[in-house]
Amino acid sequence: MMFKLRNDTLIRALLREPTPYTPIWLMRQAGRYLPEYNQTRARAGSFLTLCKTPDLATEVTLQPLARFALDAAIVFSDILTIPDAMGLGLTFAEGEGPRFERPLRAEWEINNLAAPDPSTHLRYVLDTISQVRRALAGSVPLIGFSGSPFTLACYMIEGRGSADFAAVKKMLYQRPDLLHHVLAVNTRAVTEYLNAQIEAGAQALMLFDTWGGILSEAGFHEFSLAYTCQVMDGLKRESEGRRVPRIVFTKGGGGWLESIARSGCDAVGIDWTVDLGTARARIGERVALQGNLDPGVLLASGAVVEREALRVLASFGAGAGHVFNLGHGIWQTTPPEHVSSLVETVRAASTTYH
Ligand code: CP3
Repeated sequence: MMFKLRNDTLIRALLREPTPYTPIWLMRQAGRYLPEYNQTRARAGSFLTLCKTPDLATEVTLQPLARFALDAAIVFSDILTIPDAMGLGLTFAEGEGPRFERPLRAEWEINNLAAPDPSTHLRYVLDTISQVRRALAGSVPLIGFSGSPFTLACYMIEGRGSADFAAVKKMLYQRPDLLHHVLAVNTRAVTEYLNAQIEAGAQALMLFDTWGGILSEAGFHEFSLAYTCQVMDGLKRESEGRRVPRIVFTKGGGGWLESIARSGCDAVGIDWTVDLGTARARIGERVALQGNLDPGVLLASGAVVEREALRVLASFGAGAGHVFNLGHGIWQTTPPEHVSSLVETVRAASTTYH
């Protein structure tokens, strides 16, 4: 946009270009483990109001960057903004997670589903992105994101989070035609939303396929990955004269890394159940890897955080193409000092691998 990117290590690492050290950012880096986040959230009154107020969403996006030497910002929002914009009636009950007032159950509800126009119904996310870009002034890149078509469908059909997503599984086996229709609409919605985020200033994108791992191998390919591939295919390749790298993260996708790596993404997010060196041997010639410290490590001591961070760095080994991250979102009970230890360790210790 108007500033040259001063720290582009994230973008370079995602494209497997050489960097002086391993860049780091953390999934859910802005969140309830930070007291300043809880303060801003209290001022907003609710999580959704926080997401929908660009001034406040910008403020919390920047909070982790003020504390830690992170190599990227991620726009503060949620994956459920799309189904909210589709009119499903999103609420977050205190301490209970997301709920939809009108989950997709009846065939007519599914047939009436339409992709929202991001420039009107999701304007607040695009406004936050432009505002964050101005505030960052080229210091680090800004990551935009969306849920995957399948992961969004899980919440839209179930109406809430679930351990087994039984309503989704039932539809998948009994009425696959209906699930495919939801996924086709979601694919259009996600593609248009992510392209609008690029236009607004997002410099890298991440697709969260949080629930792809609940599927069988055949089910994963048919109901999750096929639609992820369509999204990748529909995304703008460049913006502001630079490639906009895409990260695909399927939690529990360790068995399918080869096919995920062929989806059209530049990087694959790896959860903590997979050894990073093994993942690199499997797909490292094709894509960059992002991950994969167990978020539970951050509950232990600073010394343990350091030891385990070194283990992740060593497991990837020398060379380009690693973005340090957790294997999933940071936990609410994480002491912020342990995040400082992590970020400092990765910055200092990773130079020997480059
Ligand atoms: O990474 C970041 O800092 C950006 C912000 C971000 C949030 N949600 C903020 C948030 C991102 C990238 C997400 C993605 C998201 N949201 C996912 C995919 C990633 C993943 O974790 O697998 C999913 C499945 C959701 C849906 C969602 N949003 C759930 C299940 C919950 C409740 C979780 C809980 O612990 O209560 C949310 C709420 C949410 N999204 C919070 C934050 C900071 C906590 C809400 C609060 O402040 O009360």
